[in-house]
Amino acid sequence: MSLVDYFTRKPEFDILAMEEADCQPAAVLHRQRFAAPWSDGDLHGLIVQAPVFGLVARQSNAIVKGVTGGFVLSRAVLDEAEILTICVDPRYARTGLGWRLMQGAQREALSRGAASMFLEVDEANVAALALYRKLGFEKVGERRGYYQDATGRRTAALVMRRDLR
Ligand SMILES: CC(C)(COP(=O)(O)OP(=O)(O)OC[C@H]1O[C@@H](n2cnc3c(N)ncnc32)[C@H](O)[C@@H]1OP(=O)(O)O)[C@@H](O)C(=O)NCCC(=O)NCCS
Repeated sequence: MSLVDYFTRKPEFDILAMEEADCQPAAVLHRQRFAAPWSDGDLHGLIVQAPVFGLVARQSNAIVKGVTGGFVLSRAVLDEAEILTICVDPRYARTGLGWRLMQGAQREALSRGAASMFLEVDEANVAALALYRKLGFEKVGERRGYYQDATGRRTAALVMRRDLR
């Protein structure tokens, strides 16, 4: 295979446990996708906590260290798990990474003893809502006016849940 082939081929991703070295690229991604982003230090402070785990989508077919296509952070305590955050690089949106990260998080939470998983999502977040509904999450609560966008418009946070067993 020529060098050009290496640089032009379509990236492929593995879903792997998030490590310290992933926090910096993950923070860059978080900044792109959230108005109130979490820093490298914030992410590191979370993944060192025993109940918290992270998964990253890391490019597997790169010559040098592959790009971070997305990541998810979750916390599992006793029989309940929650999604703390998830984001995918917009360059790889709608290629299945969000789905794979969520499947991985659900599997890991189950293996840690969780029976159900919770998350919170802005009712205006069409992509995330569609992903969660497709995974089988259902609305179990609502916090009215929880989010506010740049124009001042307020939207509700939906609390969603699904059984893992
Ligand atoms: C939500 C997010 C993680 C989805 O990641 P993704 O990798 O693009 O999603 P996937 O490719 O795995 O999509 C899986 C399914 O989710 C739904 N979906 C994803 N993006 C969608 C969109 N823009 N519009 C409608 N449905 C969408 C579809 O059902 C899709 O299945 P399909 O492609 O077979 O129709 C991504 O859009 C993101 O990072 N958003 C910004 C951060 C964010 O909002 N995080 C969630 C906070 S609660």
